[in-house]
Amino acid sequence: MKEKDVRALFLEYFAGKGHKVYDSMPLVPDDPTLLFTNAGMVQFKDIFTGRIPIPSPNIATSAQTCIRAGGKHNDLENVGYTARHHTLFEMLGNFSFGAYFKKEAIAYAWEFVTEVLGFDKSVLYVTIHESDEEAFELWSKHIDTARIKRMGNKDNFWQMGDVGPCGPCSEIFVDQGAEFFNGPEDYFGGDGDRFLEIWNLVFMQFERDKEGNLKPLPKPSIDTGMGLERVVALLEGKHSNFDSSLFMPLIAKVEEITRQTYIYESGASFRVIADHARSVAFLLAQGVNFDKEGRGYVLRRILRRAIRHGYLLGLREPFVYQVVGCVCENMGAHYRYLLEKQQVVMQQCKAEELRFFETIENGMNLFNKELEKLKDEKPNQLFSGEVAFKLYDTYGFPLDLTQDMLRENGFGVDVDSFEICMKAQKEQAKANWKGSGDSVKEGDFKLLLSEFGVNEFVGYEKTEAQSRILALLDANLQRVESIKKDEMGFILLDRTPFYPESGGPVGDKGVLMHNNDKIAEILDTKKYFGLNISQVKAV
Ligand code: SER
Repeated sequence: MKEKDVRALFLEYFAGKGHKVYDSMPLVPDDPTLLFTNAGMVQFKDIFTGRIPIPSPNIATSAQTCIRAGGKHNDLENVGYTARHHTLFEMLGNFSFGAYFKKEAIAYAWEFVTEVLGFDKSVLYVTIHESDEEAFELWSKHIDTARIKRMGNKDNFWQMGDVGPCGPCSEIFVDQGAEFFNGPEDYFGGDGDRFLEIWNLVFMQFERDKEGNLKPLPKPSIDTGMGLERVVALLEGKHSNFDSSLFMPLIAKVEEITRQTYIYESGASFRVIADHARSVAFLLAQGVNFDKEGRGYVLRRILRRAIRHGYLLGLREPFVYQVVGCVCENMGAHYRYLLEKQQVVMQQCKAEELRFFETIENGMNLFNKELEKLKDEKPNQLFSGEVAFKLYDTYGFPLDLTQDMLRENGFGVDVDSFEICMKAQKEQAKANWKGSGDSVKEGDFKLLLSEFGVNEFVGYEKTEAQSRILALLDANLQRVESIKKDEMGFILLDRTPFYPESGGPVGDKGVLMHNNDKIAEILDTKKYFGLNISQVKAV
């Protein structure tokens, strides 16, 4: 059974039960507490917490693309080395906003898994939160109580991030068989791959605030998440997601590029490239760009990790972009924008690859030299933080890439001295700073927000607009009446056609005219606390 069938079956099943089908929301959420959309519930979080009214119908379903590469849920370092971790995956979910609760959520999940997907009851197991008697009672109507396991907060309490909606949960597992998995952790409740979790039912009851306190949600709700890639692999009889029809075409592409044959046991690099190409394709197609910080830096780290694995396979020139092209073709039927953006996305990827290929050779030489020293002279020691910093600063190796390379050799980095180098460099950069928007203090723009509210963005309809200047700040963020010629500052317009960078595409540049005279250049535009603010230079 292919992914499109499982996805369609899921959405049809819940639509048939009265749920409204929602499209996948963007991977970059409008939420500064989250790096990426990391679960299907993210697009509904404000409904759960009561910040926006409950829609009609009050039950929903979606197939949501998620990224877990940074932030609270981060799977990046496991990818390639396990059968089931991905940076990007699709989560199938059903949601109830105060409509049904545990009883129906459990009954629906059981019916879908056993009757629609056809899993044999003899391979199914469930976990519940150790305190959840109600869930135990409800599950015991469907499954032998010997197959219900109580677990603690670590496994059976789910939360979106450090703050946000959360609650106890119950997970459904499929036993893939002792004949294939017999490691020490391959018991029900262990960390092995034999018992594979396919579906998490969260009984949303609380919201966690910044201080860590739990406050009850307005209405007990339901948020479930089933991993599409896992289910497709199981239904295709594969023991690794990477062996399924979702990933094998990408791995075949890597085989074609490297002219090497993929062998599961030694094929981690093939899997890393296949996985990471999917994240790169989706993030670029959705407008996230490679950057020195924030989401764009996560994207860069993902791509550089893939490049380094290609380097291990002997590749010395850009190649990930070809796998990215393959992702766009394979997934474009459902995600049309992948096909529409395919050429641009491949070009962006190739250009970024070229940049890293310029320095990777020298960086690898430096890394290997230091590693040899470590092996010969200093067993049980840490890899020098200064060298890790040089790898980062001069050769573009993100710290986690260096850590990744060391882990394979059983070493770690001296992170403290890395941080000291980083801090020293930042202080130096600050001392040299002549007034870019990057060092803006929180309070400055928050004051403007409370005074004027959010300004209007009209850039989707037009590239020029008549605007009023609401506030002008100099380079030191002091409110001023005017800015002298050639000096820089910041401007808040009541309505602006300039698109702001906020973790996604770059901010717009342009000019400011008054009575047909150019009075300032717009150097950049960013979003600060919801305000579209442009950096200007008076002319
Ligand atoms: N939010 C839960 C999870 O991500 C269920 O959807 O596992």
